[in-house]
Amino acid sequence: MLKDKNIALYVTGGIAVYKVVDLMRGFIKQGANVRVAMTESATQFVSPLTFQILSTHEVHIDTFDERNPEIVAHVNISDWADVSVVAPATANSIAKIAHGIGDNFVTSALLATRTPIFIVPAMNTDMYENPATQANIETLKSRNVQFVEPDIGFLAEGYEGKGRYPENERIIEELNNFILSKTVDLPLRNRKILVSAGGTIERIDPVRYITNDSSGKMGHAVAEAAYKSGADVTLVTASKLPTPSGINTIRVDSANDMYDEINQHFIDMDVLIMAAAVSDYRVANAADSKMKKDDSSEPVTIELTENPDILKTMGSKKKDQFLIGFAAETDNLEEYAKKKLKEKNLNMIVANEVGQSDRGFNADENQVIIFTDDGERIEVPLTTKSEVANILVNKLIEELNK
Ligand code: CTP
Repeated sequence: MLKDKNIALYVTGGIAVYKVVDLMRGFIKQGANVRVAMTESATQFVSPLTFQILSTHEVHIDTFDERNPEIVAHVNISDWADVSVVAPATANSIAKIAHGIGDNFVTSALLATRTPIFIVPAMNTDMYENPATQANIETLKSRNVQFVEPDIGFLAEGYEGKGRYPENERIIEELNNFILSKTVDLPLRNRKILVSAGGTIERIDPVRYITNDSSGKMGHAVAEAAYKSGADVTLVTASKLPTPSGINTIRVDSANDMYDEINQHFIDMDVLIMAAAVSDYRVANAADSKMKKDDSSEPVTIELTENPDILKTMGSKKKDQFLIGFAAETDNLEEYAKKKLKEKNLNMIVANEVGQSDRGFNADENQVIIFTDDGERIEVPLTTKSEVANILVNKLIEELNK
């Protein structure tokens, strides 16, 4: 999202200024153009020359230091920017922004801007928790200014508390999501998409379970690709992978739990993509306490009972929803996939071969064939799961626009 974006970076005076040098480099690495303005106090921590050399632009500090007679610098930077980032933001600067005070270059430029504003507060805990600061933050939030939650951790003052400057990686991720949320012309904007992921877990007793080799990587990649195309995504996942940011994520274990969640949300959805490896069976009488070893020589039998077929059930209920299934096969890939497409009343199916270590379950790459209900066949050669997800989402966009 940051590629070719113009970012006005406003640096105010806190100890975290030195970390913002790297934040700016992170923006530039993602393809953004960055221009920097600093408050006088920020220049006490890091020299403006550092920001100038790394951004390859002049750094603004003094509102009255107007070098180019053709422009007014603080208005020019505001007009140029697509987004304004304040990092680190001190309690003092937050107060000024909240109250419309423009008494230096940074606050004047922020008064003059029409761009979305993204603020990274970093300060002492007591300053952060002060009711005045909290009220100023609330005022700005009510005007759609976006705040990054500070970390709790070891502060410059030598004790633990909330107010710490967060990891740059998190800031960049949240800025990407913020820009995404402000971009209206995305192909899946206003589409609600439900995605399932991971291998379900079927309990034998409180400490043992039956599952499969699915990692959830494919489903999570699909959810992220749909989100980046502007969709409102709900992910129902049995995977242990981290929660993707910006995506409403619901954690489940068993096929029955997954069924309940999907069944509850399905009615409001435009699209369902079932990438989960749902266990076909569950343990008939799962024990409530740990099963003890049986000393007799008789074999121990675990009785299984059938789980609901989630996709098939949704296929039988669907009205206008677009349904995509996955078919994990070790043999007769095309034949079985096409059969599932028909039997489960799907619009599209992604057939992937499993049982090979370099693709499919648990691998980072996948090789698939996509079949549509009107007979189209698209071969996707071995590539990363995120690329497979992009291709699938692009195909979905094409089908929805037909
Ligand atoms: N699926 C489902 N509920 C189940 C089993 C599968 O919703 N109880 C979904 C999967 O998420 C996938 C599709 O159905 O999108 C096909 O799953 P797969 O495991 O390949 O096939 P099955 O229908 O289970 O058939 P089989 O195991 O006999 O191949």
